[in-house]
Amino acid sequence: MPSRPDPRLVALLCLSLGSCTENPVPSDSNASTTDASTTTDASTTDTPTTGDATADYPSLDERPCPEDSILTAENFGAPFMLTHCTGCHHAALKEGERAGAPLGVNFESLDKVRAQAAQIWARAADQNATMPPVGPPPADERAQLGEWLACGAPTAADL
Ligand code: HEC
Repeated sequence: MPSRPDPRLVALLCLSLGSCTENPVPSDSNASTTDASTTTDASTTDTPTTGDATADYPSLDERPCPEDSILTAENFGAPFMLTHCTGCHHAALKEGERAGAPLGVNFESLDKVRAQAAQIWARAADQNATMPPVGPPPADERAQLGEWLACGAPTAADL
């Protein structure tokens, strides 16, 4: 005949698993700030991804740089800026040739990109998609831009 589990055994199991709390109802103290999609698949997300296309970061300062990031100016940053930005934001473009991009806001060099990283992030990286004015890059590329900038816009030699 089935017997009730020995309460001492249950207590031991709880101790070793660290999972039996007095109150089994999940705390929702930070539910309002937590993206629900990140709470359900913890078992499949052990390894950091190159970029979370759904993340909503308050600023570049708070945007994390994944430890295993492999993005560099060579394999990402330079081609990204060339494809999406320097058609308007290039020092060689005079007023009237830059589709209204402010004079002096140029991204043709790594030094300029680094110096304006926060502004670039705020217009084109992660959840930000107001640059270019027409047709922002896809979310995965914006997440990569966020990652590269958050890591300090490294070159291959910096890694
Ligand atoms: C088709 C031309 C064009 C392209 C391509 C373009 N921009 Fe712009 N950019 C503009 C115009 C026009 C403005 C001014 C209007 C505005 O701020 O929305 C501007 C303004 C900006 C500003 C604000 C500058 C300031 O000081 O006010 C930033 C930052 C910026 N762009 C970043 C980018 C980045 C990063 C890219 C590439 C992902 C990009 N832009 C691509 C035309 C462009």
